[in-house]
Amino acid sequence: MDTTISFEVNGELKTVTTHPSRPLLDVLREDLGLTGTKYGCGEGQCRACTVLLEGKAVAACVTQIATVENKKVRTIEGLAGGDTLHPVQQAFLDGAGSQCGYCTPGMVMELVAVLNASPNPAEAEVLARLGRHLCRCCNYPNLKRSIRLSLRR
Ligand code: FES
Ligand code: FES
Repeated sequence: MDTTISFEVNGELKTVTTHPSRPLLDVLREDLGLTGTKYGCGEGQCRACTVLLEGKAVAACVTQIATVENKKVRTIEGLAGGDTLHPVQQAFLDGAGSQCGYCTPGMVMELVAVLNASPNPAEAEVLARLGRHLCRCCNYPNLKRSIRLSLRR
C-alpha cells in the first residue's frame, strides 16, 4: 500500500506518495526528475547510484524510500554552488576523471562523503573506498589522478 513520505533533497523539502519499499533511486529519478544519479546494477554492487544520506554515502538503488523519511539526501545536482563547481567536481574536471561520465556522480558523491568525515584522509583509505565503484570505461588512471587532486584541495 502506498504511503506519504517527506524528506529533504538538496535543501528542499519533498513529499512523495509511493510504495514504502520503492528504491530511493527510482524516486529521485522518476518522481523528482533528478537524473544525475545513475542506475547501474540495481543490486548495491557498482555504486553508480551513490548519494549522501545524512552526509554518508549510500547506494540509492538498495535504499528503500521509507528509510529516508525526515532525513536529508544530497545528490550530484545539489553539490555545485551556482556556477561554481564543488572542489571534488572541479578535481574530476581537471583530472579528466570522466570519460562517458556514467560512474562520475557516484564517485564524486562518495569522495565528498569521505572528505566530510575526515578532511585529511589517508590516500590508501580513499582509494580503497573508491575502489568499490565500477567504471565501465576503465578510466581508472584518470580517476586516480582526479582523486589525488581532490585530496590536495
Ligand atoms: S545501481 Fe546502485 S549499486 Fe549499482
Ligand atoms: S567514465 Fe564511463 S563508466 Fe566511468
